[in-house]
Amino acid sequence: MMRLGVNVDHIATVREARRGKRPDPVAAAIVAEMAGADGIVCHLREDRRHIKDKDLFLLKEIVKTHLNLEMAATDEMVNLATEVAPDMVTLVPEKREEVTTEGGLDVASNYDWIEEVVRQLRNHNIVVSLFVDPDLEQIKAAARCQADYAEIHTGLYANADDLSAMNDELEKIRSMSMAASKLGLGVSAGHGLDYHNVRDILDIEQIEELNIGHAIVAKAVMVGMESAVREMLAIMRG
Ligand code: PXP
Repeated sequence: MMRLGVNVDHIATVREARRGKRPDPVAAAIVAEMAGADGIVCHLREDRRHIKDKDLFLLKEIVKTHLNLEMAATDEMVNLATEVAPDMVTLVPEKREEVTTEGGLDVASNYDWIEEVVRQLRNHNIVVSLFVDPDLEQIKAAARCQADYAEIHTGLYANADDLSAMNDELEKIRSMSMAASKLGLGVSAGHGLDYHNVRDILDIEQIEELNIGHAIVAKAVMVGMESAVREMLAIMRG
C-alpha cells in the first residue's frame, strides 16, 4: 500500500499572507496525522518564505509518524538537518525566484558535492532521498552516491497539456521507477499530484510513497484538513 506524505508548506503560505500566527502548519500536521497520513513533509527554503525554522523544530517534536524535510544541499541546511534530525531529508534544487521547485536535482552534474551531503546526512542516521527527474542518468547517479530513495518528479506529468503528453510522461515515471528499484533505491514520487491525476500513478508498483501538498491544502481550505487528507487516502487505498 502506498504511503501518503502530506506537505504542509502552503498552510504556512496562508499564514505568511499576514505574517501572523494562523493557520499553523504544526496544527495542520496533527490533523493530517489524525486523518491517517503516513508522514509529514515540509520544505525549509533558504528565503524562509513559508516554513520557518521554528516550525521545523516544532514539527520534529509533534510528528509521530515520519518527518521528511525537503531542503537544498547547502552547508547551512545540512547543519540544521543534523541538529533537528528528521526521519528523512529530501534534497531538492532551489532557485530564489521560482514559485515552486521547478525541476529535479542535477545529481549527475554536482555529483561530488551531493555524494558528500548524502554521506554526512546518512552518518547522522537520516534516510536520504534525492528529488530527481524521471531520467536514467539522474537515477543512476542517485544510486551511485548511496542515496536511500529517489523521489521521482511528477511535475511534467501533472502539468502536461494533453493526454498524449501526459501518457508519455506517465510511461517515463513508470520505467524510471522500475530502473530506480532495480538499482536498489526506494522509490517515491511527487509534485503537482492531485485528486485526479494521482490515480494512474497508483498502478506503479515500485512507488512506495507519494508526497502531496498543494492539492490537499487547496481542498482543505474548502472542506477542512481532515476531510482533504481522508479523501486522498480513500483514492489511494481504493
Ligand atoms: N515533492 C517535492 C520534492 C517537492 O518539492 C514538492 C513541493 O514542495 C512536493 C513533493 C509537493 O508538491 P505539491 O505541493 O505540488 O503537491
